[in-house]
Amino acid sequence: MAQEKILLVEDEKLIRWSLANRLSKEGYVVVEVDRGSEVLKVLEEQEIDLMLLDYRLPDTDGIQVLKTVGPKFRDLPVIMMTAYSTVESAIEAMKLGAFDYLNKPFEIDELLVTIQKALETTSLKRELSRYRRAQEERFGLGNLVGRNPKISEVFELVRKIAASSATTILLQGESGTGKDLLANAIHYASDRAKKPFMNITCSALPETLLESELFGHEKGAFTDAKTSKKGLFELADGGTVFLDEVGEIGPNLQSKLLRFLEDRTFKRVGGTVDIKVEVRIVAATNVNLEQAVAEGRFRKDLYYRLKVIPIFLPPLRERPEDIPLLVKYFIDHFNREFKKNTRGVSHAAMQALLEYPWPGNVRELKNLVERVMILENKEIIDVPDLPREILGQEPSRPAEQTFNLPPGGIVLEDVEKSLLEQALKRTGGNQTRAARLLGLTRDTLRYRLKKFELE
Ligand SMILES: Nc1ncnc2c1ncn2[C@@H]1O[C@H](COP(=O)(O)OP(=O)(O)OP(=O)(O)O)[C@@H](O)[C@H]1O
Ligand SMILES: [Mg+2]
Repeated sequence: MAQEKILLVEDEKLIRWSLANRLSKEGYVVVEVDRGSEVLKVLEEQEIDLMLLDYRLPDTDGIQVLKTVGPKFRDLPVIMMTAYSTVESAIEAMKLGAFDYLNKPFEIDELLVTIQKALETTSLKRELSRYRRAQEERFGLGNLVGRNPKISEVFELVRKIAASSATTILLQGESGTGKDLLANAIHYASDRAKKPFMNITCSALPETLLESELFGHEKGAFTDAKTSKKGLFELADGGTVFLDEVGEIGPNLQSKLLRFLEDRTFKRVGGTVDIKVEVRIVAATNVNLEQAVAEGRFRKDLYYRLKVIPIFLPPLRERPEDIPLLVKYFIDHFNREFKKNTRGVSHAAMQALLEYPWPGNVRELKNLVERVMILENKEIIDVPDLPREILGQEPSRPAEQTFNLPPGGIVLEDVEKSLLEQALKRTGGNQTRAARLLGLTRDTLRYRLKKFELE
């Protein structure tokens, strides 16, 4: 194990000597200074893990040292030692970020325990902040790829929301459009980032279990409740709770959630005390909630409560211009992950990717890039490397299919118009793919769309 380095700031020779001696025996490396003016220099030159700071120093006092050093070395745990203890100075030292405060004379064993605690706490804090930084990097706004106007609008909105005090957000969009990603981005870009982000998939649990996960429960609330337990809303206080697949919540819990959203107050299951928390709720759904409301499966009032700020993520087929960007982004990502050297996609392969309707949206695209990069160690991904379903079938020829003329006849132009409409609908308005479905060139399709005033 690496030896931890302690900076000992103490002017009384005898105390300094005996402390240094004992600390070295315990396996610490000790750096000694006898006045405040040297502290900063040592900290700047060496990697110090902890500082033992005497209050009374010949040139200054410990509080002044804390004031100059504290802002520059936030992560450095400081233990103050003093023979002239006053409550005020102790309070001030703690306010300035000292880890603890010991009155001389103290037992050296007491000091050793305090040092250990301080070092452990600091290393936990560092680990946590490393983890947070990794999460922030992973879910930072910089990782949202897209330049389609609608998706850019969404990203802009996310930026604004993150910085705002908005407390309830509803993300709607088909599966794989990036709802999870956005929920994380909203949290990690906000000043809540240092507080918890808790995430639960509402469809994954039976209603009663979900209720106690969200609200917590008291001991004895139900047979298995052997102890009381905090729910997500309590655990995430100050942070964000992501309710995924919120459309799947049962009617009973819907009304409880509604009550909670109104004033952020709830009772644990089996509890009598009102608990108030401050959490941001990001809810997501890939079912059409409006339709669920119309069909009586989802409470209207809850729907309106949730969609204070609605965000709609458009499906990938409606933003084909994002496909090349995403492909590049995922190739870079998997190059790093798999240590590969794929450079890109051939023009023809990109054409096929642009024409495919992506029912699984960005997730399907990401999985495809991953699969091709694992299976086909190619510098440039080409058409034969793509799976069959991407390439699609050629449109069927009339010879293989008979259209029956109704007995009374039909207006050919109506048939044509109807087929054009169907093709556009199926491809989400993508003219290139609609043309392909009809065996036309894009220009011919355009011409006919104009003719039928379908543009
Ligand atoms: N705009 C984007 N830029 C970069 N990556 C994206 C983007 N949108 C989605 N992704 C990636 O695509 C994958 C699927 O996204 P995500 O899990 O957020 O979808 P979802 O909407 O939550 O889907 P579901 O409804 O199935 O839960 C993730 O790996 C995500 O990181
Ligand atoms: Mg999701």
